[in-house]
Amino acid sequence: MRISPFPAGVQIETTSRCNAKCGFCPHPVVSQTEPQGVMEESLYRRLIDEVSHYPVKLLQPFLNNDPLMDKRIVERTEYMVRKNPYAQVCITTNGALLRKDVIEGLASLPLHTIHISSNGITGDTYRDTMKIDGYAVLRNVNELWDCLKRRNSRTRLVVTAIFMKRNRDEVALMRDYWRSRGVEFYLNPLNDRAGNIDAAEFAGMLPFTEPANRSQLHNWHMTACQALYSSLAVLWNGDVVTCCMDWRRDNVMGNVRDATIREVWEGARYRSIRALSDEGRLHERPLCNGCGHNRFSINSDGLARQLSAESDPQSARDRELLGTLVNLREQTPQLIQLGLMQ
Ligand SMILES: C[S@@+](CC[C@H](N)C(=O)[O-])C[C@H]1O[C@@H](n2cnc3c(N)ncnc32)[C@H](O)[C@@H]1O
Ligand code: SF4
Repeated sequence: MRISPFPAGVQIETTSRCNAKCGFCPHPVVSQTEPQGVMEESLYRRLIDEVSHYPVKLLQPFLNNDPLMDKRIVERTEYMVRKNPYAQVCITTNGALLRKDVIEGLASLPLHTIHISSNGITGDTYRDTMKIDGYAVLRNVNELWDCLKRRNSRTRLVVTAIFMKRNRDEVALMRDYWRSRGVEFYLNPLNDRAGNIDAAEFAGMLPFTEPANRSQLHNWHMTACQALYSSLAVLWNGDVVTCCMDWRRDNVMGNVRDATIREVWEGARYRSIRALSDEGRLHERPLCNGCGHNRFSINSDGLARQLSAESDPQSARDRELLGTLVNLREQTPQLIQLGLMQ
């Protein structure tokens, strides 16, 4: 595949920290062992200045963290936007740290999209899935939405939830709630972050009962990956990792403290992993191999057929849940994202 001189998408993690402890995310475990910190301002500015010389399409000031843990996130995002007026700048957060000044600051910027990762509508579900105060998040997101509207902002506000066992009974309520507020809402599938989540815990979080879940898990033989040609991800300490799945920093492509982004992008390690991809041998890298495993995607007709043949009460609950999902898809097809359901 032809390599462009510079990645079309760049993610920069300005701090490694996160205020939540989501059971479905590697962060709480990985942050115990991997070095943590905040990106130096001089490095951040140099990276943004370099990016501004290229026609980058998508810029995101976070990677494997929560961006609002960076006390300077508003001014850093403002710098990103100002220096790259033609790029789409998007931010994704759990929303718990949206204080009034942060709301005002973010709403004043011409961002493309603010994504809120929200996995419940009740306090209990929020506590169990993310260990944060769900009611505070709902209040914050409503305030942000009101602020965006007051300012006639063109920034999209999007709430996304991962469809899992702990929030499966709330998906229709979540959809109704966000729809009543006029906010876009999407459901994404759970994935095991290329094996960076414990296998047993991952299996326990899938939405249906065990045989039904197992029937909807697929293993792809990973041959090639487009991300290696289009996007680049920098950690707080300057390490460039393979992608957002590289939680344990398995393939560090280089470090932008002592090189430019372009030098790393064109460097030997990128060339070597792209050569594997070009030859259809990406499965030889354990991380990439793992990325093809445990893909959860619901085949609604197939699963309905399988469940209709079973008679235990758990299967009846699965049938009911599948029915809810199918109804939601009929009413709002775009609600189902990232191959959650066929
Ligand atoms: C790693 S978080 C970083 C940004 C921020 N902390 C947040 O939660 O929005 C980026 C996105 O990955 C999603 N995510 C985390 N673990 C996931 C998993 N196992 N399967 C699917 N999505 C996941 C989060 O819900 C969030 O929308
Ligand atoms: S999903 Fe986001 S909020 Fe939750 S632990 Fe991971 S990084 Fe933090």
